[in-house]
Amino acid sequence: MVDLNETKQRDQWGSKIGFIMAAAGSAIGLGNLWKFPYMAGQNGGGAFVFVYFAILILVGFTLMLAEIIIGRNTQLSAVGAYKKLNAKWSWLGGIGVLAGFMILSFYSVVGGWTINYIVKSVTGGLASSDPAVLGGLFEQLIANPTEPIIYHALFMILTLGIVKGGISGGIEKATKILMPGLFIMMFIIMIRALTLNGAMAGVEFLLAPDFSKINGGVILAALGQVFFSLSLGMGTMITYGSYLSKNEDLVVSSISIPLLDTAIALLAGLTILPAVFAFGFDPGQGPGLLFVTLPAVFAQMPLGTLFALIFFVLVLFAALTSSISLLEVNVAYVVDEFNWDRKKATFVMSGLIFLVGVAASLSMGPWADINIIGGRNIFDSLDFVASNILLPLGGMFMCIFIGWIWGLENAIKEASNNGKLAFKLAPFWGFLVKWVAPIAIFIVFVQSSGILSLFGF
Ligand code: TRP
Repeated sequence: MVDLNETKQRDQWGSKIGFIMAAAGSAIGLGNLWKFPYMAGQNGGGAFVFVYFAILILVGFTLMLAEIIIGRNTQLSAVGAYKKLNAKWSWLGGIGVLAGFMILSFYSVVGGWTINYIVKSVTGGLASSDPAVLGGLFEQLIANPTEPIIYHALFMILTLGIVKGGISGGIEKATKILMPGLFIMMFIIMIRALTLNGAMAGVEFLLAPDFSKINGGVILAALGQVFFSLSLGMGTMITYGSYLSKNEDLVVSSISIPLLDTAIALLAGLTILPAVFAFGFDPGQGPGLLFVTLPAVFAQMPLGTLFALIFFVLVLFAALTSSISLLEVNVAYVVDEFNWDRKKATFVMSGLIFLVGVAASLSMGPWADINIIGGRNIFDSLDFVASNILLPLGGMFMCIFIGWIWGLENAIKEASNNGKLAFKLAPFWGFLVKWVAPIAIFIVFVQSSGILSLFGF
């Protein structure tokens, strides 16, 4: 397995599956299990999923390949990669670092909730199918001024511990068991949810699009979700791609990772939304959706407590394989740019991210009245700015960079291993990178009612 430390002799992935597992580990996380279902719930269900798929096909696969190409070509992480290809573009790596910082600050708070729910499932506190009881439990946790912050600290410490030492073989081995484990668990829980009374209303909500619900806000939310879920737009996949050997088929990887990622998001959606309708929860209730609905499903399963425990542990691991990729981008930046010692960089960045996360956590309780952007609290504002603005902007400028500055020929040469592999879709991919993806992102920005007005323009 790779050591994400920049050593003189650059490491490479042990195997192709090693890269796909690590990249899928970064992509699959809270974005799929926690965020996708509640975003769909808030943004018109099937309408959101429909737009999500359209953007995934036009932008998601395209950018996944683009990032991996830059990484493998330069053999450097984001900031260094842009610097090497064209020094004038290194700011683009900087946008990514900022986005990663903001995302991890609230991501870690949610990771903390997950640890708390592991504890709750052991102590038996979750055994209920009553929306009022489960909603109350969740509210009590997140509104508490200290408890969620302690769990947020714990999650940050776990992330820090892994990143500090570089990613060891243990993590790779663990991921190889845990990811398929997550898949199988999700499948079993989905079957239980789908066979609940009234579950089909949830399936319909999620899969039958009501096109009248599509508007600028829904499209922007779906765009942000594609970037967030696939770990795109901030150079994560540049870094991971930089450890790939020159013989691997990049095109195959860039198709498999989004497919795996989407499969997990759909499994989560097809578990949580049917449960929402079966038990009478509110689909639009936001970030608590996973935490209030799934315990209701577990309460209706034989061995439910055990299922709850295993499930939340798997969610924690999925979250950690993502959070390490977010922290790594920050650490690599200060190590590369300011020559910091890796240990110091890891501690300082984790500490700063933790502090911003404290504000995000407090905004769920004592600081709930502080509004930053368009009526959003601190937590939602961090998510909105990073996911819906910085990541898509990062992606758009990367397309412009590849299509118009670095040159499609160079990119395609890299993707086809210097012409050794057939890359039949090259002209099509080139067209998407040069024209379709950047223009689509730009239009979403301008159209999505009032991004600018949110900032007072
Ligand atoms: N994709 C991860 C998830 O779905 C989160 C994540 C990890 C991420 N690295 C990222 C999001 C880089 C955006 C950019 O949970």
